[in-house]
Amino acid sequence: MYTPRTSIAQLLESKSPQNGITVSGWVRTRRDAKSFSFFEINDGSCLSSIQAIADEEIENYANVKTIGTGAAVSIVGDLVESPGKGQRWELQVHTLNVVGTCPDDYPLQKKRHSDEFLRTIAHLRGRTNKYGAMFRIRSRLSYAIHQFFQERGFHYVHTPIITGSDCEGAGEMFRVTTFDLPNVPTKDGLTDFSEDFFGQEAHLTVSGQLAVEPFCLALGDVYTFGPTFRSENSNTSRHMSEFWMIEPEIAFADLHDDMDLAEEMVRYLVGFIRNDRAEDIKLFANFVDKDLIARLDLVERADFERLPYTEAIEILSSSKETFEFPPAWGNDLQSEHERYLTEKHFKRPVFVYDWPREIKPFYMRENDDGKTVAAMDLLIPHVGELIGGSQREERFDRLQQRIEADSLKQQDYWWYLETRRFGSAPHAGFGLGFERFLMFVTGVTNIRDVIPYPRTPKHLEF
Ligand code: 4AD
Ligand code: MG
Repeated sequence: MYTPRTSIAQLLESKSPQNGITVSGWVRTRRDAKSFSFFEINDGSCLSSIQAIADEEIENYANVKTIGTGAAVSIVGDLVESPGKGQRWELQVHTLNVVGTCPDDYPLQKKRHSDEFLRTIAHLRGRTNKYGAMFRIRSRLSYAIHQFFQERGFHYVHTPIITGSDCEGAGEMFRVTTFDLPNVPTKDGLTDFSEDFFGQEAHLTVSGQLAVEPFCLALGDVYTFGPTFRSENSNTSRHMSEFWMIEPEIAFADLHDDMDLAEEMVRYLVGFIRNDRAEDIKLFANFVDKDLIARLDLVERADFERLPYTEAIEILSSSKETFEFPPAWGNDLQSEHERYLTEKHFKRPVFVYDWPREIKPFYMRENDDGKTVAAMDLLIPHVGELIGGSQREERFDRLQQRIEADSLKQQDYWWYLETRRFGSAPHAGFGLGFERFLMFVTGVTNIRDVIPYPRTPKHLEF
């Protein structure tokens, strides 16, 4: 059986002193006094470090006095009440072993570094307070997402990463091929994909939706949660080429059920993480975003606004705000429009629903007005669009027409169309961008700082 080390998180929760315990971690700082040395040791289990005190009497004290910031150490000692301020417990060292030394060129010597710099050392930034907190929050929120759905009887479906169809129809896909690029086989002057690995064109998925829908029409309520890939060449603080998406799909449900689910989920996740990782969230509230707590309160307490797209355009058009892109019916909302609606006008999360058909993908259900589809976006303060979702077109003929109208190939979607012939049922779903949600709960302003290894145009280190 794997018996883990005693974590610092466990020790700091201790109710009483303990003798002869082992702590392993990395040295954050060492300070030397006349006859002893103080160490701050962090093991990643929580934000707090533990203070360890090594007396000159210990065996290898001369060696101990040379241990550098960043070194990996293993300490055996006693947990005793700390006379110092700010901590209840400290560690009285019996033996201190250096597991891995750390020389002076360790880049995390000083306490504060810019996010830009830390991005260049993504392999080390998890050792700072801020990024340690971030990645613990990320881990626990992943868990909470599964918990939310599993508690409600949703089934988790593993949708494929390599796909033969373009879900969003936006052509922002990375190609998957084993062709030797300088020698691509051709036929009649065109690339001959029948020679490629899959015998046809293949791409990385932009969304698991099309693959999860048939499982919704089989298992009822389902979700997928995995990485998605988009080759859009936009270098913004809210876009990445690889990001994670949570996509539930609910059966016998319409757009309003979809918005109900989205609202419940967002509120649940905010409540969960505030409670579960309170210390880490506090770091962001104190050092990253002074408005964080107020914003989290708002989402937990206020009902989300629900607003038809047409009314959103009216509000934007009649506002006194000067927008770089004037709002107009039929156009997508720009980030500045999203932020205005949620941050200034309503001051709460806003669902914008019933969008113009022309700017939305083929699978969204056509409304009776002949102009709009049953789509919704959830806009939240600090981020803008967090969620995109819709009721799906469950009527075979309409769906077939939309595929044709969008110049998509029927034969690529035969299986999707078949689900509309064999026991079709109304259903709806949405996609929540996990990194955007992390930006929201931490106040971090650049999406590159909420994922371990960001992938963006012209950037693929690590
Ligand atoms: O609005 P999107 O494109 O919706 C879909 O992909 C649907 N198929 C989802 C569904 O109905 N099952 O993307 C959903 C969310 C966005 O609202 C945004 O939060 C996030 O995914 N997102 C991105 N996050 C980071 N980088 C990017 N390039 C993103 N593109 C979308
Ligand atoms: Mg969208």
